[in-house]
Amino acid sequence: MTPLILAIDQGTTSTRAIAFEVGEGGVFSAVAVSQIELPQHFPQSGWVEHDAAEIWAATLQTCREVIRKAGGVGRFAAIGITNQRETAVLWDAATGQPLHRAIVWQDRRTAEVTGRLVADGHEPGVQAATGLILDPYFSATKFAWLLDAVPGARDRAARGEVRLGTIESWLIFNLTGGASHVTDATNAARTSLMDLAERAWRPDLCELFQVPLAALPEIRACSDHFGDTVPSLFGRALAIHGAAGDQQAALVGHGALAAGDAKITYGTGAFLVANVGAVPVVSTRRLLGTLGYAVGNDVAYALEGSIFSAGSAIQWLRDGLKVLSESRQSEAMARTLADNGGVYLVPGFTGLGAPWWQPDARGTIVGLTRDSGPAHMVRAALESLAYQTADLLDALHSDGAPPLKVLKVDGGVTANDFAMQFVADICQVTVERPAFQEMTALGAAKLAALGIGLIDDLSAMAREAPAVWTPRMAPEQRQALLRGWRGAVKAAIIAAK
Ligand code: G3P
Repeated sequence: MTPLILAIDQGTTSTRAIAFEVGEGGVFSAVAVSQIELPQHFPQSGWVEHDAAEIWAATLQTCREVIRKAGGVGRFAAIGITNQRETAVLWDAATGQPLHRAIVWQDRRTAEVTGRLVADGHEPGVQAATGLILDPYFSATKFAWLLDAVPGARDRAARGEVRLGTIESWLIFNLTGGASHVTDATNAARTSLMDLAERAWRPDLCELFQVPLAALPEIRACSDHFGDTVPSLFGRALAIHGAAGDQQAALVGHGALAAGDAKITYGTGAFLVANVGAVPVVSTRRLLGTLGYAVGNDVAYALEGSIFSAGSAIQWLRDGLKVLSESRQSEAMARTLADNGGVYLVPGFTGLGAPWWQPDARGTIVGLTRDSGPAHMVRAALESLAYQTADLLDALHSDGAPPLKVLKVDGGVTANDFAMQFVADICQVTVERPAFQEMTALGAAKLAALGIGLIDDLSAMAREAPAVWTPRMAPEQRQALLRGWRGAVKAAIIAAK
């Protein structure tokens, strides 16, 4: 019988476990899935928390269900983990109990701290070392906040009695019964504490952010051995042999392994990760320098750009404006128009991300006339996906990233043929969507399969051929649309001031 890999995908809104069969020629196919939604906690405006104990319980439950559905633990060869990144957890080293709710990557409570660090001139140094700009998005200021908020935690950290980590560390600690306090280099790259070129913690940054090194996990490569599960959890011990942050795992899942390969995942927001090769690139356009993956001596660096609102713009049309009853109607509605009629929607509902980084920008619609109707709103929302992607690719280009060969896409909105053709047209790039959509979990499974020697490299893909869109818009039309978009972004930024 062919061996199975258990992929755990612990995301912002749900926890999933997927069993992958690794067939002949290293072709992966999903044979069982289990998913549990994750409750979100918003204790104050701008604060977002998760219950770490709930995340662990859901992980255990989904894994057990998938193992059962797939025919028992005997078929499984290893576990790969992928996770929402940056989310910070503090727990007791002895009891394994979380000492506070986890602070989620979207949480802005430490904005004042990062603002002060920027004002004090620390950003260039932090960016040169870590690739990251100073922003509450990353884990370091969240770790420090947790240590200050929990009575006695700082003193206990100095005595080695508490642990800090992102979600994969928390899960591995629990899966191994507290034996491993480890992270992988892609997750560590999102803390603001890791030297990107060395892939090691920086004592000077730990000092700057006031995060004690003693509480941090050990950094390992993505397909290293992270520990073995406690036998009683699943019936026998399973080796954890793969770990990567979810956007990085998706890069691996897509097989975007060469410099010039890039993927974008269109979810609520959208994350572009472009492979830039073996040497880190520091962005001059406020993209994030980060790691693609590190597997033995094979290391790929990446530039990343995040769009805060992508699918959420369509959700807003459906749930807020109620011009759609289902998201998938958006395609037919957009196609009722010959063009956008000069209407642009800048979906800055929660500010604008890369390359603008305008936290105070808000959603803006420009170009309305008496003829504008619901279809214009829908079309403008779908078009905004492409314009925002073009902005990221433009920044990538001016950062000297290797020319893009193909843009690999995944996520709910990629089922929309109109939107994907528009991305190809506006970005002037071939867009490729794999038939199998679970790129994040696939990436984690590939890393674990590589780790235990089941496959020789990460190029293995699912069997079915991808859907492909090639650019076909006339250059003048594209230029005119991009001019309209830039005017709209300017309006969104001015309105915020
Ligand atoms: O950086 C945050 C990102 O990793 C979250 O991804 O898919 O869980 O929303 P997702």
